[in-house]
Amino acid sequence: MRTVMVTGGCGFIGSNFIHYLLKNCDVKVVNFDALTYAGNLENLRDVEQDKRYAFIKGDIADAAQVSGALERFEVDSIVNFAAETHVDRSILTPDAFMSANVMGTQRLLECARVYWSLAPGDKNCRDYRPGVRYIQVSTDEVYGSLGMEGKFCEDSPIAPNSPYAASKAGGDLFVRAYCETFGFPAVVTRCSNNFGPYQFPEKLIPLIIYNALHHREIPVYGDGRQVRNWLYVEDHCSALCRVMREGTIGEVYNIGGDTEESNLNVVRTVLRMLDRPESLIRFVADRPGHDRRYAMDYTKLQGHTGWSPLYSFEKGLERTVQWYLANERWLETAADQEFQTYCKMMYT
Ligand code: NAD
Ligand code: DAU
Repeated sequence: MRTVMVTGGCGFIGSNFIHYLLKNCDVKVVNFDALTYAGNLENLRDVEQDKRYAFIKGDIADAAQVSGALERFEVDSIVNFAAETHVDRSILTPDAFMSANVMGTQRLLECARVYWSLAPGDKNCRDYRPGVRYIQVSTDEVYGSLGMEGKFCEDSPIAPNSPYAASKAGGDLFVRAYCETFGFPAVVTRCSNNFGPYQFPEKLIPLIIYNALHHREIPVYGDGRQVRNWLYVEDHCSALCRVMREGTIGEVYNIGGDTEESNLNVVRTVLRMLDRPESLIRFVADRPGHDRRYAMDYTKLQGHTGWSPLYSFEKGLERTVQWYLANERWLETAADQEFQTYCKMMYT
């Protein structure tokens, strides 16, 4: 049975991915997570007793912790979700993004290169244990912003606009460099905006739900006409599984949804689903360097593996809203003191 190390597995997409793997694949899973403010062990409470699952608290930027985990669990695949992920926080504290997303990714790559190499001391050795794989979970934000027309392809220029996007581009390009220089067996995926269960309430959709449930105003940046290419998180997980199994080493694959929605439409739709008035909408100052529009061309992945999203935006959103309503305790716990202090600083 293969052993997959999921870094950042206590976060939003990582925890959904672990659930997806344990349900759909015959693999063992090691969840390696530093438990930052965004990491939550509650997200995996229901699989804690599964004999195929183990949790290690560790930082991808700590080579000793990473190497220890790779050796102890005899890891064959790594899916790297671990990152600082919120654009607004990257404007407040860019250095944290540099550490986790650039330096952390490079350390993780180097530990995996050494552990999987057939001659670890020889930098010219391009031979690795059979079947090993590293997947870097990158983002559409590395491409920057689109105008009204067109979509990002894998060969679109890398032009990040926020410290978050720049740090993700740095990690993404380090993976490319390891493939080119060391023949390292890695694949990069770049995905659009996800939504679904377990998303931390700093992000737009859970923030709308949290604020609406508390009869608080919903902050909409600028004119609210920025467009995002939403993908239900389970569809991202199924795409990553396809890439893990069938992706070609050294390649980049875009992953995206079929829906483009303006932020204002998303806010209105969620308020309608929660039976809350549009008078809760409050237009606030725009995010500096705010990307106007993202849209992903995922035909390369579709052509290579047959993957396409199963959930429409409406169906995914219904499921998401229902999940938050059924898990209000999770939401209240996630929206802890740190989150309230952050919101006060961000929005007042
Ligand atoms: P998240 O913020 O919900 O979770 C991040 C997780 O990483 C947390 O559990 C945190 O504790 C952990 N972590 C942070 N720094 C770490 C470190 N140095 N070592 C180990 N663990 C660390 O993030 P998310 O939204 O689930 O995103 C996961 C990944 O997917 C990220 O790499 C992100 O860039 C990428 N991505 C996210 C989206 C999206 O819409 N959320 C879209 C495309 C790509
Ligand atoms: O595109 C993929 C990216 O999607 C991921 O790489 C990031 O990790 C993830 O955080 C997300 O980035 P965004 O900046 O697009 O997501 P966020 O939920 O922060 O914002 C979505 C849109 O809503 C964006 O245009 C900004 C806007 N927004 C957000 C917040 C938090 C508001 O108008 N008001 C808000 O309070």
